[in-house]
Amino acid sequence: MGKTMSTNNNKTAGESGFQFEYDPAPESTDMVNIKKQNKLFINGKWMAGKSGKFFDTINPANGEKLAELTEANTEDVDRAVKAARKAFNGAWSELSPKQRGRYIYRIARIIQERSRELAVLETMDNGKPIKESRDFDIPQVAAHFFYYAGWADKLDYLFNGKSVSPIGVAGQIIPWNFPLLMAAWKIAPALAAGNCVVLKPAETTSLTALLLGEIIEEAGLPPGTVNIITGAGATGAALVNHPDVDKIAFTGSTEVGKIIARSTVNSAKKLTLELGGKSAHIVYEDAALDQAVESVVSGIYFNQGHVCCAGSRLLVEESIADLFVHKLKRRMASLRVGDPLDKNTDIGAINSPGELEKIKGLIADAIADGIEYFEPESTVLPQKGYYIKPSFFNNVASSATICRREIFGPVLAIQTFRTPEEAIRKANDTPYGLAAGIWSEKGSKIHSTAQALKAGVIWANTYNKFDPASPFGGYNESGWGREGGRHGLLSYVEVK
Ligand code: NAI
Ligand code: MG
Repeated sequence: MGKTMSTNNNKTAGESGFQFEYDPAPESTDMVNIKKQNKLFINGKWMAGKSGKFFDTINPANGEKLAELTEANTEDVDRAVKAARKAFNGAWSELSPKQRGRYIYRIARIIQERSRELAVLETMDNGKPIKESRDFDIPQVAAHFFYYAGWADKLDYLFNGKSVSPIGVAGQIIPWNFPLLMAAWKIAPALAAGNCVVLKPAETTSLTALLLGEIIEEAGLPPGTVNIITGAGATGAALVNHPDVDKIAFTGSTEVGKIIARSTVNSAKKLTLELGGKSAHIVYEDAALDQAVESVVSGIYFNQGHVCCAGSRLLVEESIADLFVHKLKRRMASLRVGDPLDKNTDIGAINSPGELEKIKGLIADAIADGIEYFEPESTVLPQKGYYIKPSFFNNVASSATICRREIFGPVLAIQTFRTPEEAIRKANDTPYGLAAGIWSEKGSKIHSTAQALKAGVIWANTYNKFDPASPFGGYNESGWGREGGRHGLLSYVEVK
């Protein structure tokens, strides 16, 4: 990894920030073996789809096709649900809790063994920087399986004096922003609680879920315990509407979440929804500013802002606002946008051309509305693929679309405040309520602010820190229910 300071005198300190030139340091793709055409994982076997239809998945870093995926139709969904039901009525339920735990541990260990392969494949299919998939996503995936494996034989201790039983067959539908991690958040607690699963990954990022299918096969789980089917919205809808599914777990857009809530309301299906957010950082004047800047940057710019709990709003105390914005601009100018497989890349590719257009459209509308806009001049975007510069809007009104809608891109909306009450009022003025970050040197201020914020996850003097033992989920339109920790098991059990 060659790291040399730029000899270009135009690139010096100042608002444009320092620019370092790095030699390319691309991760090798040798260990990844992508099948040209992929099948469905049903009843422990790889099966062709009944429709005979396929669709492409691309590498957003260069727009090139990676593979073809099977479009599962209602018949395939039915086969997968039947397989899950059979495993639930038989082999999976006949195992002792301890034996079930062993299988989940085995999945966790194989994930660790194949972590490099999984990280590279995730980056190729999703566009996120390899340093994110390698250092965050995949380790967290393994950690979730390890954590829930430990619960499998301890379910009697979930509630004092109460016994729990599994719900049955869970249909799980996940998005493209953390493809394998969302699969782990869904599958690991479901299995630990004794359920069987049909998982549908997002249509643009199914490859690591299919590789997880191979890992589950290698781990030797009874056939049908986990089924993985590919397809887009219609496949997801078929799973939601299948009469023999007992529970639906969904992560994705508010729009689709509402459709699913409407389709399940007249059934006995249980439902959990995780629908994103418009989370705020609150930076008080006594905060450690450089650390706060770094945290704001990682909370919205790393991973292209493709994070449901992204800190997409910044509330900064008026007395330090100019200084903070100055520091932020400098840091933004040093961020590297480019090849996601390069180990130095901070901001990779936007997952699909549709998402890129959506982000650009929201930016253009806000600029047309006259809102103050900044993007670093010095950032260079690759010629091919779907990329965008990190940016922010300053002095944004709480009513502005850019301040209310989930953008899902590296775009920050900045507001100022004068008192803690104003900060809290502005932070809570959102249809969502997923997460928040508070920056202050004063513990009492952090606690009083945290108490008043209507958000499911609150970080203090840090951001985007995850642990499988800690519950995750939000208020209002951010969704229903919690994932992670003991809470994550509650949506997969009946309590007696
Ligand atoms: P989406 O909600 O359409 O897709 C998420 C998953 O739901 C995918 O697996 C998709 O195939 C499936 N799906 C789509 N329509 C369905 C239906 N009618 N019934 C059942 N399943 C269905 O999200 P999309 O289109 O990928 O992204 C749109 C916007 O949603 C993003 O720009 C972002 O703002 C937001 N989003 C939020 C996420 C979060 O984690 N909170 C994740 C992904 C997107
Ligand atoms: Mg969609």
